[in-house]
Amino acid sequence: MRSKIVAGNWKMNTTVNEGEALIQGILAKMEEVPASVQLVVAPPFTHLVPVQALLKDSAVALSAQNCADQGKGAYTGEVAAPMLSALGCQYVILGHSERREYYGETSETLVRKIDLALAEGLKPIYCVGEKLEEREANRHFDVVEAQIREVLFHLTAEQFAQVVIAYEPVWAIGTGKTATAEQAQEIHAFIRRTIADHFGAEAAEAVSILYGGSCKPSNAKELFACPDIDGGLIGGAALKAEDFIGIAVSF
Ligand code: PGA
Repeated sequence: MRSKIVAGNWKMNTTVNEGEALIQGILAKMEEVPASVQLVVAPPFTHLVPVQALLKDSAVALSAQNCADQGKGAYTGEVAAPMLSALGCQYVILGHSERREYYGETSETLVRKIDLALAEGLKPIYCVGEKLEEREANRHFDVVEAQIREVLFHLTAEQFAQVVIAYEPVWAIGTGKTATAEQAQEIHAFIRRTIADHFGAEAAEAVSILYGGSCKPSNAKELFACPDIDGGLIGGAALKAEDFIGIAVSF
């Protein structure tokens, strides 16, 4: 049985105080969440220490939103994977489309980030997804296949077992436009076949593939009912405890 995961990507939102209040709101509703669902929160770097303190005795896991492509040294403004694991982070989001688009992240950078994260025992939540023009040109399968092949195929089976994949069509992120359950299921199944072809059927069965892009309480149930959708990577709706929990109870 693969893990069901609902992960909140806070992006560049909330002050520390607001973030702490959000965590308290989530913790207050935790009894509504089935034990089979792993909740993950990914606040900004500045919030990781106080958020970790609040999460200490809870079942909610801590994630960073990014890490550097170097282990340490003269890289002003960067945060390295060993710093994150030392704080108690269990996950790190890598390859988010906003990082690819606005900060020039390439497959080459992402290979280094994935390797450094795994070396530190962090589980990468590796994001893939096509842009609108790529879907309109019917290139979405090729784009997603390349994002997976270029960044994950060098991993050993043991390393790959630590990876979570998030399919996030760029045209659905923050736009209010969700992929239909059929569109999402189709590409999630394709991702699983791509994994099976390279890593084998067992690895493909075990990997959690999350959907992201305008996921909210009103559409989560339909998405999560799809056989190859194992949860969600949530942006906007993760900033309200009620909505985040509303998604987590949608399995
Ligand atoms: P959204 O963002 O839920 O606000 O569309 C999802 C994401 O980018 O992870």
